Amino acid sequence: MNNNEAESLGLWQQLKEDWVAHGRDWTKPGFRAVAVYRFGVWRMTIEPRLLRAPLSLLYRSLYRKVRNGYGIELPYTVQLGRRVVIEHQGTIVIHGYCHIGDDSIIRQGVTLGLRYLDRLFDAPKLGKRVNIGAGAVILGNITIGDDANIGANAVVLSDVPPGATAVGIPAKVISSQKTGITS
Ligand SMILES: CC(C)(COP(=O)(O)OP(=O)(O)OC[C@H]1O[C@@H](n2cnc3c(N)ncnc32)[C@H](O)[C@@H]1OP(=O)(O)O)[C@@H](O)C(=O)NCCC(=O)NCCS
Repeated sequence: MNNNEAESLGLWQQLKEDWVAHGRDWTKPGFRAVAVYRFGVWRMTIEPRLLRAPLSLLYRSLYRKVRNGYGIELPYTVQLGRRVVIEHQGTIVIHGYCHIGDDSIIRQGVTLGLRYLDRLFDAPKLGKRVNIGAGAVILGNITIGDDANIGANAVVLSDVPPGATAVGIPAKVISSQKTGITS
């Protein structure tokens, strides 16, 4: 569930599968945000630091463009799996210590972040194929299991088991057999 597996593919291959996952549309803000993220992770592998410096400059400028233009904050320190889709843009905030598993879907208005300001490392860990509804907020050191569905506008404060669906504020599990939602 970390980005080491993604990194082993090479930047170009990662971008290609991200592009396919985003409907082969390079103009989608979600694809662009993920592409900038992949570039940000990749440039950290460049040695020596002097060679990396111009790439870091470029990364920081692209990161700010994505954040300010599309409203998507996806820092390179996130552990992002393969083929993660950002379905729509706007007010998407992902804390730098989050883990997001392969084939997960993130929609507009989603926040994955800290629950308490003084617990800087307590960020959510999402399994594979987690499907997050628009406006959902997932906070703190919690785990969302593989294939879980998070309902639109849910506020998730505790673990969600694999395959379950959680809705409401605070989110409660309503089903453990959900097959998936579409955009
Ligand atoms: C949660 C979701 C996946 C549906 O899951 P489901 O297992 O099919 O659930 P159901 O539709 O059978 O609803 C079960 C109960 O949860 C409630 N519920 C469903 N979604 C809810 C939500 N987001 N918030 C609060 N309650 C919700 C239903 O009203 C129903 O309540 P009831 O039993 O009192 O009648 C879906 O409602 C959802 O939120 N999808 C997000 C999609 C999205 O973000 N789309 C944006 C595209 S741009």
